[in-house]
Amino acid sequence: MSQKRVQIAASILSADFGRLNEEVASVEPYVDIFHIDVMDGHFVPNISIGADVVKSIQTSRPKHLHLMIEHPEKYLEIFAKTGVDTIIVHAEVCEDIPVMIEKIKALGCRVGVALKPRTPLAALGTSLDEIDLVLIMTVEPGFGGQTFLEETLPKIRELRDLKPDLDIEVDGGINEKTASKAIEAGANILVSGSYIFQVKNRQKAIESLKS
Ligand code: DX5
Ligand code: ZN
Repeated sequence: MSQKRVQIAASILSADFGRLNEEVASVEPYVDIFHIDVMDGHFVPNISIGADVVKSIQTSRPKHLHLMIEHPEKYLEIFAKTGVDTIIVHAEVCEDIPVMIEKIKALGCRVGVALKPRTPLAALGTSLDEIDLVLIMTVEPGFGGQTFLEETLPKIRELRDLKPDLDIEVDGGINEKTASKAIEAGANILVSGSYIFQVKNRQKAIESLKS
């Protein structure tokens, strides 16, 4: 378990995009972060939103941008201008992780690196000391509403043992049951999409994740 405070990141992928800022406002008082998923139809078999929509999201909370795209280096500059706090790129598409880290930092954003369920921590190489956040995918990336993969828990534990102060964000299948498993393994930021946006009492759902 981490000594760090548990934070909730609302994934807007499961929100109603027709009234996005109302949806954001409905959970903003109860969450710590907004998690925004960008998909290109190549890295993952789904397409979501681009920089203009990311920019239109109105919140005073930090925005974590989860780029599920090939060639993320081509789009860093445009997304850095959307007001996001942290840019998260997938290790699987980074030819050179240290160079990617430098580029993101030079644009004034915090750096996150994401790992698909079957990608080992070794994919981060020696860059772990330079990374602000590691996003452990607990489902195959691409869609909301999938089932949490328990086999990812040892990777979370291994990372927490290595890095007691690192932000470890988990993404996919988080609900009131899986949240406690992820926290116990060492995660301190829980992304949640369908679990919080598909219910009427969103405050209650969000609070159930922390307990
Ligand atoms: C999936 C996305 C997630 C997704 C999580 O590839 O990265 O952020 O929105 O959705 P839930 O919480 O429904 O699993
Ligand atoms: Zn995500």
